[in-house]
Amino acid sequence: MNLFGKPYLRSVSVDPRADIDLDTYPFTIPAVRDMGVIDMHPDVTFFVGENGAGKSTVLEAIAVALGLPAEGGPRSVHRPQQEVSPLERHLKLVKGARQSRHAWFLRAESMFNVFSYMDEVGGERRNGGGLHRRSHGEAFAELLQNFQPGGLYLLDEPEAALSPNRQLGALCIIDELVKKDAQFIIATHSPILLAYPRAAILSFDDTGITPVAYQDTEHYATTRDFLNHYPRRLQQLFDDE
Ligand SMILES: Nc1ncnc2c1ncn2[C@@H]1O[C@H](COP(=O)(O)OP(=O)(O)OP(=O)(O)O)[C@@H](O)[C@H]1O
Ligand SMILES: [Mg+2]
Repeated sequence: MNLFGKPYLRSVSVDPRADIDLDTYPFTIPAVRDMGVIDMHPDVTFFVGENGAGKSTVLEAIAVALGLPAEGGPRSVHRPQQEVSPLERHLKLVKGARQSRHAWFLRAESMFNVFSYMDEVGGERRNGGGLHRRSHGEAFAELLQNFQPGGLYLLDEPEAALSPNRQLGALCIIDELVKKDAQFIIATHSPILLAYPRAAILSFDDTGITPVAYQDTEHYATTRDFLNHYPRRLQQLFDDE
């Protein structure tokens, strides 16, 4: 038995009784239409896939279905909820025995608002003169430091803010929190973050959402191949034009 109640979120699926319109967004996205049951890893679940494959759509719908603000932020922020897409209404969430102590949804596009909120509730002085006075990556790294044990964290492309070194730092923070009962669901294109071992990687594509091994991800294979052979790959790219 898991003494800590992880995972807080066990699985997500589209309610089979839902009256959905397959010709309307977001059910026009193959990965959403053929989602099946998404089983979450107790520690970290990564969403990977091509641009437009539906990762943010699904992550955002899960966040809203969990009562998190669609624009990003912690669960404690009570604002009137706007429907983001019909998906969240039709999602069936299977939760664990215990609710997480904290929950956050972070998306790269709305970090500005989240930093404002953090400065408001945390006090600008405590945030070193305000998170808006930090670079995007500095502020984001600071925000990660605020994450707590026992939390459920949904992150959309956290690497967008972070240098490769800071991504390694983020892995350390994630690992520390995972060992203190936190659960993460992360949409990412980062081959660095994806290397985290206590994780499941779920690939979004035309056939639905399926588990994939790290070394079988396009992110790993393409990055590795490019870095190992980049003069030749560049030549091939430009010769084809
Ligand atoms: N409100 C909307 N109405 C109609 N289509 C939308 C809407 N929002 C997103 N889409 C479309 O849904 C598809 C999935 O978008 P989504 O943002 O979920 O992709 P993603 O996998 O997160 O991609 P990326 O890796 O580029 O972030 C895209 O083709 C997008 O254009
Ligand atoms: Mg996205």
